[in-house]
Amino acid sequence: MTNIIIVGTQFGDEGKGKFIDLLAKRADYIARYQGGANAGHTIVINGEQFIFHLIPSGILHKKKKCVIGNGLVVDPQTLLEEIENLKKRGISVEGRLFISENAHIVMPYHKLLDRVSELARKGKKIGTTGRGIGPCYTDKIARTGIRVADLIDEKTFQKKLKKILDEKNQLLRKIYHQKEFSYRKILTEYSSYGRKIKRYVTNTSLLINRAMDKGKSVLFEGAQGTFLDIDWGTYPYVTSSHPVVGGALTGLGVGPTRIDRVIGVAKVYTTRVGEGPLPTEFPKRLGERVREKGKEYGATTGRPRRCGWIDLVLLRSAIQINGLDSLILTKLDVFDKLEEIKICTHYRYRGKRMDYFPNSLKVLSQCQPQYEVLKGWQESISGIESYKKLPPTAKKYVKRIKKLLGIKIALISVGPQRDQTIILDKTLC
Ligand code: GDP
Ligand code: IMO
Ligand code: MG
Repeated sequence: MTNIIIVGTQFGDEGKGKFIDLLAKRADYIARYQGGANAGHTIVINGEQFIFHLIPSGILHKKKKCVIGNGLVVDPQTLLEEIENLKKRGISVEGRLFISENAHIVMPYHKLLDRVSELARKGKKIGTTGRGIGPCYTDKIARTGIRVADLIDEKTFQKKLKKILDEKNQLLRKIYHQKEFSYRKILTEYSSYGRKIKRYVTNTSLLINRAMDKGKSVLFEGAQGTFLDIDWGTYPYVTSSHPVVGGALTGLGVGPTRIDRVIGVAKVYTTRVGEGPLPTEFPKRLGERVREKGKEYGATTGRPRRCGWIDLVLLRSAIQINGLDSLILTKLDVFDKLEEIKICTHYRYRGKRMDYFPNSLKVLSQCQPQYEVLKGWQESISGIESYKKLPPTAKKYVKRIKKLLGIKIALISVGPQRDQTIILDKTLC
């Protein structure tokens, strides 16, 4: 029995989906702990692509149980679409999908508020996914949210919606000059979603704690990444939840003594969708080259991802904040054609060395990334299955990252498919 938490170490899209799917083989439960349909987790099996926004990335293993934890904000429309799409592809979730009663519901006014508040920010946009995430978590913290348990109880839903919608409509009309939502329309549509999801709803904390008592293994799936965390990210250019390790505990109702390992997923370069600082961002032409080779377009919004060199300042902080015991390195193959590769080892700030990520964006804007330059391998590595067979220059790059970070590398990914993985830690898969 091993319980593992998987966290993103950068700005999301590190390749978590591929590795949740891979590690799910040895788990009994795969449990997502935060975020919502802003996530896009991609899995490629025999050339067939699946992108999950809400359903945990272990669902393709037909005997595994999947949990949507209390830490999530659930858009029932997206969830039902995902269930339906899976059904069309021959995958049933019946009897193995569980949704927390305490997860919050993303309502239509959350999605509209997300969009209009972005417009109102003018030059200071966050670049959100427009999925209603921020406004939904705002209501959760303000204690005015609608939870899954409320949605599936028609009387409670009616009462809560009436009260909340009055407020939201005023806000939308008076501040944002938008049309009001019809109570009847939302009530009818969302009550119908409630009836459809009811059979999946349960006390998921109890479910997985009992499973662990019986020796079952749980794989905890994080969405987004450490530097999009509401506390640890580049605030305000962040998401509204806790992708860091603490989010796994609060987002599923599990104690820290249950956790055996915490593994971080990191791209061998850095990407970011939306606004906010990216200290090691590539110059334009190199950025386009890596984006094309790495297919760096958002899995949720299709937006081009900004790309930059690997940033060990970010990763060092991610290792610390999450207590990582090892790293999974992804997308090494994307560098196949590069003549030289840079590693950002630290920053310089006012003449001093800085090894950890500053909390202040003002300080960050005055930091200069410092690089070590290594030779590229300039050959294709996407078919390589063992570390030994990697070109010496590729091994040198990996070894250097490992040494500078002082952390074990568990797996190395050389392509999107399950089998395009170099396994260094044989206990994992
Ligand atoms: P996630 O949000 O962390 O699950 O990552 P995304 O799915 O948003 O983005 C990762 C993208 O990289 C997906 O399109 C994956 O199929 C792809 N991918 C994952 N690992 C590798 C790899 O090692 N090499 C290449 N070329 N693509 C990869
Ligand atoms: P996965 O799980 C990358 C980014 C958005 C925006 C910021 C806030 O696939 O790694 P939000 O809609 O959450 O309020 O947007 O966070 N963002 C992500 N970027 N991967 C994600 O998820 C993301 N989820 C949100 O682009 O900058
Ligand atoms: Mg993604």
